[in-house]
Amino acid sequence: MYGITKSVDMQLALSPEHATIVPDATSMRDFLTLSLQAYWFAPPVALWRAVELRTAAQEEYPRPLLDLGCGDGLIAGLLFGPQGVDVGLDPWAEQVRRAARSGVYRWVQRADGGRMPYRDGTFAGVFSNSVLEHIPDVGPVLAEVKRVLKPGGRFFFTVPSDAFRRMLYYYRQRLDAGDEAGARAYADEVDTCLAHYHYHTPEEWADLLARAGLTLERARYYIPEPVEHLWDRMNHRFGVGRRSLWGLLVSPRLRPLGYQRILARWVISHFSRAWRPWYEMEVPEGGKGGGLLVVARKE
Ligand SMILES: C[S@@+](CC[C@H](N)C(=O)[O-])C[C@H]1O[C@@H](n2cnc3c(N)ncnc32)[C@H](O)[C@@H]1O
Repeated sequence: MYGITKSVDMQLALSPEHATIVPDATSMRDFLTLSLQAYWFAPPVALWRAVELRTAAQEEYPRPLLDLGCGDGLIAGLLFGPQGVDVGLDPWAEQVRRAARSGVYRWVQRADGGRMPYRDGTFAGVFSNSVLEHIPDVGPVLAEVKRVLKPGGRFFFTVPSDAFRRMLYYYRQRLDAGDEAGARAYADEVDTCLAHYHYHTPEEWADLLARAGLTLERARYYIPEPVEHLWDRMNHRFGVGRRSLWGLLVSPRLRPLGYQRILARWVISHFSRAWRPWYEMEVPEGGKGGGLLVVARKE
């Protein structure tokens, strides 16, 4: 546990119960520029995260709030601001240290989502961004979320959707060329690289949540197909996930040479203009996108 002296239970008792974080100030924010500032070294990551943040910012988050699988706290920082989240939890020690330094959380804890060190009914909200797809069996995590939520509490999570694989640009390209096996192999490669274990439909999520005693309230697709196409092509151009010239140029080891500040400024100003139409694009009514935001409730 980082940055606390008393137990989370005791401290949360002092937290403003029923207070709600309405990121409406944040929902108007330019998440594309903010994400590019944070992830200038990996522009396609910034694009995906910008659209994700714009989507997540349209929800209201009740406190006390837990960020499940908080990582380094960067995303929660952009969404909720300093001290905007009560507790961050992640099993990865280095990420937990970074999250503790981020100033976003009142407390940060190293623990697994399948065995959370909190009493029943501790939180009014649980937020989890891009986490569940990395956990092969989500059953124990969903059961724990239900347990740590107060009655009426809500669970907000984002995951890649059931349409993710077929919306990959190079999957589509291979399929259009009649190479079905090649398309599948490409999507498998992406799964391995990103450590994605599953892609569920909203109906499948409703079923998984119900088994844990949670009710799916709503599910909303984001990342329209043209955005995922651009993201996939740009991952190749920037060599994200493999060795590349770009990877070498942005390597932290070369930071002392000083040029990275100029490169970062160029990336931010260029892509915040060039990618704006994709950032603002909506999934067509009744259509699907590569990402899925789910809101569930504990009755
Ligand atoms: C792609 S990162 C997302 C981090 C952060 N939520 C964000 O949006 O930047 C996935 C995170 O899930 C965490 N994670 C993986 N398995 C987990 C588990 N069983 N319980 C909680 N977190 C887990 C990882 O340690 C990692 O920090």
